[in-house]
Amino acid sequence: MFTIYFFSFSLWLHSIYGHEYNWLSLAMSSSSYYSPKHRAAHTLDKNNYRLLCDRLPGLNPVQKTMCEQHPLAMPSVARGARDSLYECQMKFKNERWNCSERFEVHNNTVNGNFHQDLLGTTIRAGNKETAFLYAITSAGIVHAITRGCSTGNLTVCGCDNQPGNQRYTEVEPTTAAGKNQNQFTWDGCSDDAAFGVRFAREFLDKYEKQQFAATHDVSHLMNLHNNFVGREAITQNMRKHCRCHGVSGSCEFKTCWLQMPKFSEVGEMLKQRYNHFAVQVAKRAKKKLRRKERSERKIPLRGNEIAYINRSPSYCERNDKLGIYGTRGRECNQTSLSSDSCDLLCCGRGYDTREVRRTVQCHCKFVWCCHVKCKECTENVLVHTCK
Ligand SMILES: *[C@@H]1O[C@H](CO)[C@@H](O)[C@H](O)[C@H]1NC(C)=O
Ligand SMILES: *[C@@H]1O[C@H](CO)[C@@H](O)[C@H](O)[C@H]1NC(C)=O
Ligand SMILES: *[C@@H]1O[C@H](CO)[C@@H](O)[C@H](O)[C@H]1NC(C)=O
Ligand SMILES: *[C@@H]1O[C@H](CO)[C@@H](O)[C@H](O)[C@H]1NC(C)=O
Repeated sequence: MFTIYFFSFSLWLHSIYGHEYNWLSLAMSSSSYYSPKHRAAHTLDKNNYRLLCDRLPGLNPVQKTMCEQHPLAMPSVARGARDSLYECQMKFKNERWNCSERFEVHNNTVNGNFHQDLLGTTIRAGNKETAFLYAITSAGIVHAITRGCSTGNLTVCGCDNQPGNQRYTEVEPTTAAGKNQNQFTWDGCSDDAAFGVRFAREFLDKYEKQQFAATHDVSHLMNLHNNFVGREAITQNMRKHCRCHGVSGSCEFKTCWLQMPKFSEVGEMLKQRYNHFAVQVAKRAKKKLRRKERSERKIPLRGNEIAYINRSPSYCERNDKLGIYGTRGRECNQTSLSSDSCDLLCCGRGYDTREVRRTVQCHCKFVWCCHVKCKECTENVLVHTCK
């Protein structure tokens, strides 16, 4: 009786919300939704913060609590969501799955609040695309929060004053010939990625851990691992940038600071993991993810491998239930040999060709100093679209 009761209770919840928690919908809310109005107030108005956080779409209970504790961090969280979605769509624009979902603009009103279950079907699919989404959005939060710290937008964090404790690589090969070239002092604002990581772990991992403890559903372990991969893509790629000081560029003194990789580079790294280092894991686990491949079960997952449980659909045909657009009507490239080739993108269905006039930038010239001037040309181009 008890279980049945709980089962129907969760079904009831499900039908009210029509979806599970999905903080990515923050990407679509206007900033008035998450910007505390009383930034200037010195006393924390807890009640107002609670109202604000209740209004935000898609936050799970852990995230709602964090929102109440750190309301000023929410614009950065939303920015993280936006940046990661943008990056995902850039990296997948030539693939059959182009990081969008047919029902993503599905309208849902929760407690009178507008809600969008952005990419919700993919988020719950447990496949390679799910894995990429978790990794990139986890990286997105680390990146946006850390940037918020460096720019002074967040009050609870700032620059890292002991950057030497972080792991980093040198960016510039040692060019200056000065004998002091290896000596430097830390100066300027170093990105405190460790803070971003702590924030992201609490914001994204805590609830997944609770859910795994409660349900033993391996998808939560999968999400935790891919969140980790996203964070690692930043923390393992911190860069030391330096500036020389001294008479006529002698580099007598050198000051250096640490910077995160650009988010587009992070996206590229994660796309490579998706392309080459995606590992299928077993559907059951007691505590740790295991590879599905029996002969490799003993090899632990690495920090550069994203994990998935289910195989992906082909994404060739439209499927409204799964939110799949299908590739009909997508523009393909007749000469390409990769995923955007007409052969692959159109799934062998063939394509239509038509001639269109397009305006492009042409005859570009570099103008001193420092911009590029172009003319506009119209040309006729052949456009191929999948049948
Ligand atoms: C969602 O619903 C709101 C209000 O009901 C409406 O104004 C809006 O156009 C809808 N958006 C979409 C994409 O259906
Ligand atoms: C910092 O805050 C300002 C004003 O609120 C905003 O315009 C800017 O985009 C924020 N920067 C970051 C990195 O979030
Ligand atoms: C993805 O492809 C569909 C058509 O298959 C298109 O409607 C949609 O706008 C595309 N999404 C992006 C982000 O380009
Ligand atoms: C098509 O693919 C070729 C080869 O990858 C590339 O050089 C060309 O720019 C692509 N064309 C378009 C319109 O994207």
